[in-house]
Amino acid sequence: MQTAEESEIGDDDFFQDVDVLQSHGINVADIKKLKAAGICTIRGLQMCTKKRLCAIKGISEAKVEKIKEVVVKLSECGFLTALEVSVKRRHLFKISTGSLELDKLLGGGIESMAITETFGEFRTGKTQMSHTLCVTAQLPNNNGYSGGKVIFIDTENTFRPDRLRIISDRYNLDQEAMLDNVLYARAYTSEHQFELLDYVAAKFHEEAGVFKLLVIDSIMALFRVDFSGRGELADRQQKLAQMMSRLQKLSEEYNIAVFITNQMTADPGATMTFQADPKKPIGGHILAHASTTRISLRKGRGELRIAKIYDSPDMPENEATFSITSGGINDAKD
Ligand SMILES: Nc1ncnc2c1ncn2[C@@H]1O[C@H](COP(=O)(O)OP(=O)(O)O)[C@@H](O)[C@H]1O
Ligand SMILES: [Mg+2]
Repeated sequence: MQTAEESEIGDDDFFQDVDVLQSHGINVADIKKLKAAGICTIRGLQMCTKKRLCAIKGISEAKVEKIKEVVVKLSECGFLTALEVSVKRRHLFKISTGSLELDKLLGGGIESMAITETFGEFRTGKTQMSHTLCVTAQLPNNNGYSGGKVIFIDTENTFRPDRLRIISDRYNLDQEAMLDNVLYARAYTSEHQFELLDYVAAKFHEEAGVFKLLVIDSIMALFRVDFSGRGELADRQQKLAQMMSRLQKLSEEYNIAVFITNQMTADPGATMTFQADPKKPIGGHILAHASTTRISLRKGRGELRIAKIYDSPDMPENEATFSITSGGINDAKD
């Protein structure tokens, strides 16, 4: 019998290319169409419903059936033993936030194969944290993490490469080399934000194992503009659910840490129910369930900020204090 160690999923299996379909009777033109739709790996195909595949222009239902058959054959069954899962999770890595205290709160930092959401009011440090992660994601650590490239999607026009320069000085990184490892896109509409994810998938695929972090600052800003009022809420939430599902799959497919920021809003119902904290992150249940770990931020004295674990599958609800410095997120000095 094979041990879990022997059947360890190597990086090759991790990024099994859709090109292998060729040797199973799927033609190159169809494979190209899959790639153009952002589906570049067998795992990515597994994550797609037949409905989504049928929606790809030029791919017939019969073709979809055939592709799905091959995928099933290639990936055998979907079950693993818990031991195998545990071995697989060794691929997981954590990216430092810049503050050791905050890292400790998060069990080491921002985790790969997961979505970490940070929400808080204006000026609580969400964008500063996004910037800091662009730099720390490039630092190898002694837990076997090699560091890697970053994609930054900016919806509020608050990305500042000059901030990255100063943060990289703190870590003695070459400024230009560091900036060269961060791919930036400004999203102008919620649809554009979604479309960019196809490009993101293609990039992750093209340079397999090189990208480690995807930042979206912020996830909801454009949805808020594009959908207004109660009448469009259901539509908005459906689109949001699709985007979050795509992000979750990307993070698992390519072993990427996804970091998103979110705004808060006063909950109009809260004063009626005498809630202690009437402010809530926006995005409702969809976002609440889609994010793996949620961190709430609030202001402290001066440059101090307090982070609280709001929701996590494996961390207790604790707090940590950190500070916003010119070198990015750091521990609070006492
Ligand atoms: N270069 C800097 N040095 C120190 N603090 C900074 C710097 N730039 C911004 N800040 C601080 O960061 C805070 C804003 O954080 P930001 O991440 O933009 O908030 P959010 O995205 O949550 O609205 C402000 O309090 C500001 O003083
Ligand atoms: Mg911001």
